[in-house]
Amino acid sequence: MSHETRGRVAVIVIDNPPMNAMSHAVRTEILAGLDRANADPNIDAIVLTGAGKAFSGGADIKEFNTPAMMAEPSLRTLILAFEASPKPTIAALHTIAMGGGLELPLGCHFRVAAPGTQVALPEMKLGLLPGAGGTQRLPRAIGLEPALNMIVTGATVKSEVLAKQGLFEELIEGDIIQGAVDFANKVVEQKRPITRLRDRKVEHPNAEAFLQFARNTVGAMSKNYPAPLKCLEAVAASVDKPFEEGIRIEREGFLHLLAGPESRAMRHAFFAERAAARIDDVPADTPRRKVEKVAVIGAGTMGGGIAMNFLNAGMPVTLLETKQEALDRGLATIRKNYESTVKKGRLTADKMEARLAMLKPTLSYDDLKEADLIIEAVFEEMGVKESVFRKLDEVAKPGAILATNTSTLDVDKIASFTKRPQDVVGLHFFSPANVMKLLEVVRGKATAKDVMATVMDIGKKIKKTCVVSGVCDGFIGNRMLKYYKAQAIQLVEEGASPQQVDRAMEKFGMAMGPFRVGDLAGNDIGWAIRKRLYAEDPKTRKQPIADRLCEMGRYGQKTGMGWYRYEPGKRDPIPDPIVDKVIDDVRKEMGVTPRKIGDDEIVERCVYALAKSGQQILDEGIAARAGDIDVVYLTGYGFPPFRGGPMHYAEHADPLRRSKWLKP
Ligand SMILES: NC(=O)c1ccc[n+]([C@@H]2O[C@H](COP(=O)([O-])OP(=O)(O)OC[C@H]3O[C@@H](n4cnc5c(N)ncnc54)[C@H](O)[C@@H]3O)[C@@H](O)[C@H]2O)c1
Repeated sequence: MSHETRGRVAVIVIDNPPMNAMSHAVRTEILAGLDRANADPNIDAIVLTGAGKAFSGGADIKEFNTPAMMAEPSLRTLILAFEASPKPTIAALHTIAMGGGLELPLGCHFRVAAPGTQVALPEMKLGLLPGAGGTQRLPRAIGLEPALNMIVTGATVKSEVLAKQGLFEELIEGDIIQGAVDFANKVVEQKRPITRLRDRKVEHPNAEAFLQFARNTVGAMSKNYPAPLKCLEAVAASVDKPFEEGIRIEREGFLHLLAGPESRAMRHAFFAERAAARIDDVPADTPRRKVEKVAVIGAGTMGGGIAMNFLNAGMPVTLLETKQEALDRGLATIRKNYESTVKKGRLTADKMEARLAMLKPTLSYDDLKEADLIIEAVFEEMGVKESVFRKLDEVAKPGAILATNTSTLDVDKIASFTKRPQDVVGLHFFSPANVMKLLEVVRGKATAKDVMATVMDIGKKIKKTCVVSGVCDGFIGNRMLKYYKAQAIQLVEEGASPQQVDRAMEKFGMAMGPFRVGDLAGNDIGWAIRKRLYAEDPKTRKQPIADRLCEMGRYGQKTGMGWYRYEPGKRDPIPDPIVDKVIDDVRKEMGVTPRKIGDDEIVERCVYALAKSGQQILDEGIAARAGDIDVVYLTGYGFPPFRGGPMHYAEHADPLRRSKWLKP
């Protein structure tokens, strides 16, 4: 924090890098600065701004869930003090102003901003609403519709747009502090009256009709998420209720959401994702290896998507295949993907060409000599992986990171094909690799710490959410999925239909039920694995319904039928009497009398199957934290954010119900 005076203007600079978060200490100092300036007869006006790379990112997340968060002076107290100041207060925003970092300026008498400042009230993303007057003051500043949009979506809006809407008196090019001081001097010279947003009225030609329309739209779009409607009700109060009454409604909504399971889950997910980026025994200052040039081996489903991630991040990629036609096919798919993004208007044709120009196709390992990071995405067969890694060991430069995208094979074994197992790591992307956020970083027993630190950084650079997994069959996500699917099938054996299981899980919030997922991904993959397991261990529990459907060629969407049937060219699942007959036959052969199974039981058994195998994964040290497992399911498996992930859900579930299904 620093205070300076320029002429008769006091300048308070929030200085709490990196984001100028408003911790309790910061709030205390800002208030002291304001009091000092108001007591000083040589000061006429007060400018508030932020040092470095932000005005302020808002509340200090380290204080979340601690008494420091609400300790006086609270953010609300601070805002009231700036609002009540007898001398004009001017907030000078730049770079970033989020959450409390916007609510405080809304309490100031005047606001100016640097062009390009990113402004948002993102509380909704944590299942909350802006709780320090934002829902009352923002509509008074910029109008009902733009304010409601910002608050309900949590979207970031540029200062240029907000200046037009009346949030800022001026956009200041160049030195923001000097510009704000000049503005403050003008205010004093012109004896401009102090204005307070709380005294303004929200004008709208037809507020009631607009709000009703908004209620319908927001309600339909936010089922399972109570925050958007609470935001709406608070903003609605700004239109027809006195300011203090609006503040009371905002407060009530905020406390209600804060205590609710949805926000608790979303805050958990937020913190879990940040925690997942850390590896306990790899210090933050571990030196990184230089990664500028990337190579990908295999231009199939995964290799093409993986290559796109790096091209999108501006990194050149060499793509290697064994045959020209496979290479051509891979390149054509990459181009087609980019073209569809261009068609949707999310990429310019020039940028597409620039990205494609950074892609170097090759059939020769000689072209991999310069690569700093090489990712293998060839067929899932140990023999093929072996030949690729032996070759890489010969050609890759010393210190190059050698990664495998294998889903099921032993990364330690793959590393053993080289004389540099310390440089080998698993980078398990999810399909489609250019879209899915999750990246499981598989740490082999020999993987060097600087390799781990480097690939975690690279993951961030290509905008993935990284979670570290130890080596085991299926790593974190797919290993748990096996138990989840097995439970779903068992429910069908006992009496549920695939449709009922899918419907119950989708109602719970899963993006897609387990049988629809199976049909989408292809049921033949699991069948191949089961056949291997049955042969290896005759005691393996069989899945006769699933096996029989595969024997009938019902692999899923790709064969037009699986757990459902599909009309040609369509993806809508249609229940199929043939499947019902198979289920019926198997039940009879197993001697099972089908029983009626409730949706609650379906959800509990499926989710607890995930949590139980998650617990095992923790016990074995495959995952470092329960939160890491939640992040895997939230970002890679369509688990609903408002449930916080399978581990969080199980932890907060009714202990009696939990103990019924989660037997030790
Ligand atoms: N498909 C998925 O959903 C998925 C998800 C995660 C991980 N994976 C893993 O990714 C890897 C690739 O899977 P995929 O689905 O992209 O397979 P794919 O069959 O679509 O592509 C594999 C590509 O590798 C090429 N290839 C084979 N041997 C080669 C060699 N020796 N040198 C160079 N190229 C070679 C093939 O020509 C083919 O284009 C596998 O290890 C798989 O387990 C797949």
